[in-house]
Amino acid sequence: MTKTAMTTARPADPCCLVIFGASGDLTHRLLIPALYNLGVAGLLPDAFALIGVARSQSSSEAFRADLAQSLPKFATREVDKAVAEKVLACVAYVEGEPDDPQTYQKIGRELERIERERPTRGNRLFYLATPPTAFAPIGSRLGESGLAREDNGAWRRIIVEKPFGTDLASAQALNQKLLGILHEDQIYRIDHYLGKETVQNILVLRFANGLFEPIWNRDHIDHVQITVAEALTVGRRGSYYDATGALRDMVPNHLFQLLSLVAMEPPSRFAADAVRAGKAELLDAVQLQSRDEALRNAVRAQYGAGYVENRAVEAYRETKDVAPDSTTETYVALKVMIDNWRWAGVPFYLRTGKALRAKLSEVAIKFKQAPFAMFRDTPIDRLAENFLVIGIQPNECIGLKFNAKIPGPSIAIGGVGMTFKYEDYFDAAPSTGYESLIYDCMIGDSILYPRADGIEAGWRVVQPFIDAWREEGAQGLATYRAGSEGPAEADRLIAQDGRRWRQIA
Ligand code: BG6
Repeated sequence: MTKTAMTTARPADPCCLVIFGASGDLTHRLLIPALYNLGVAGLLPDAFALIGVARSQSSSEAFRADLAQSLPKFATREVDKAVAEKVLACVAYVEGEPDDPQTYQKIGRELERIERERPTRGNRLFYLATPPTAFAPIGSRLGESGLAREDNGAWRRIIVEKPFGTDLASAQALNQKLLGILHEDQIYRIDHYLGKETVQNILVLRFANGLFEPIWNRDHIDHVQITVAEALTVGRRGSYYDATGALRDMVPNHLFQLLSLVAMEPPSRFAADAVRAGKAELLDAVQLQSRDEALRNAVRAQYGAGYVENRAVEAYRETKDVAPDSTTETYVALKVMIDNWRWAGVPFYLRTGKALRAKLSEVAIKFKQAPFAMFRDTPIDRLAENFLVIGIQPNECIGLKFNAKIPGPSIAIGGVGMTFKYEDYFDAAPSTGYESLIYDCMIGDSILYPRADGIEAGWRVVQPFIDAWREEGAQGLATYRAGSEGPAEADRLIAQDGRRWRQIA
């Protein structure tokens, strides 16, 4: 029997959402459909208004019409006109440059008008859905203009999209800039992986069940594999991606969020500060690698031409807006160790890449082998491995692999599996993944948002890899065929410890 996701949640606080980068892909593809889904669930406040800010010339009328038109295209379910009209009932558009003070005067005038006409209580949520170069200028201008200053009980918050910095120094500088204008509890640094139910469930799996925590440590766990494989190529994002690469694009954010949820200590409370502190502390305990260690414990690679899911894929270097001699990695595999009592000696292997054989995100926890001694004088030559696999996407599941006796008169053992699939139990409506993130921000709950120290701890861990690779240039850059499971060098990275990757299938 499936259980429909029932919510006892209250509607979010009345507010006006100001989206910078309103003409962009993110707004149309994810934010508006997410707001619509919140509207369907009754979680959007009655007093809700939206201001779009972008460079392109438009008007409030045209912007509203544009959003209404694109919603059915990107919505995760059929659009109910009445709900859509309610969500888009109060939409305004401000044309302007992110770094121009006049833009903020115009936004201020629109906010005042809306706040007179609708009981939004003066609450304002600024969503920075722009390219990252605009984050700091927008932060400064919001500060100077006073638009983000909290007064008369009204809250003012900002959501900052990723990437939050491009290395440790720039992440620190951005934090410093924003923290000079706003308090930490006004800043929401988004990582859309935390909007995924399967990711949120990692804490529940670990801490709402009595059976996992006692064995969740170096006494019982052999190693952990975290995989975020994509079949997608770089596609039309050549200029962003070539300046970024797989490491920066995925590791300090998405993969480290998975790592910290899987490996953190139990927080004392299921509350933002306790959870965020626990995650930051975990990332802080990841061993920092010297240059030589970084080169030894990491593999970076670029895809060549091939076939992904039966589609011909051109080599990365042939992609539009990618330098023909680019040394940007589209695949990365890392081995990291965590310097604390729980995890000493347990390697965590992380890998992510584009144009791989299949889309697969999972966390696989490999338990130590049972002693083989008892079966030595039997026909059994080996035991299957014990894995607990947390399937993030596309298969949303949790599976346990263990050994069972194959029925028959003689002793034979085979690996079997038990799998919990979300779809067998819960009837969740398809979502964009942004719903709970936006809603949480509107109610002031930052449990799903990393704190400044967590972000910086993540960059501190990847910085030695960035530095070592910059020095090495093309040297040490491996290649893999598009549609494969990654480079042979990544297999060697884990094989040198006597282990092997799980299949990407
Ligand atoms: C984004 C990266 O943050 O995450 C993309 O910039 C990547 O390169 C995407 O494709 C992956 O997200 P998901 O939810 O599809 O796994």
